[in-house]
Amino acid sequence: MIGRLNHVAIAVPDLGAAIALYRDALGADVGAPQDEPEHGVTVVFITLPNTKIELLHPLGENSPIEGFLGKNPAGGIHHICYEVADILAARDKLAASGARVLGGGEPKIGAHGKPVLFLHPKDFNGTLIELEQL
Ligand code: CO
Repeated sequence: MIGRLNHVAIAVPDLGAAIALYRDALGADVGAPQDEPEHGVTVVFITLPNTKIELLHPLGENSPIEGFLGKNPAGGIHHICYEVADILAARDKLAASGARVLGGGEPKIGAHGKPVLFLHPKDFNGTLIELEQL
């Protein structure tokens, strides 16, 4: 059911330092920061030949990244995103298998303008999983 790895999202405490690390030390193709107030994050997309990295930094009050950085002050992998062809079919199959779909189970429009859902990390080996419909 799942397809390609769409991206790995890394929460970072210092966005400028993380941009410099990926652009200068790792020599990656780093995009411009984008504020996404409805998600409470500033996102930087890094394009790799086979996937993307998303740097996530808290934006505004009550950012969902704030608590994660509180527990992981140096930053860390926040979630991984798999592509699916049909997000509602994927949701129904997962729910039937007992997996918990976060946020009431209705897809939201994610950072790439496509429908996304998140799956409870406790059901997936401690990893927050995002599904994105292409
Ligand atoms: Co994501």
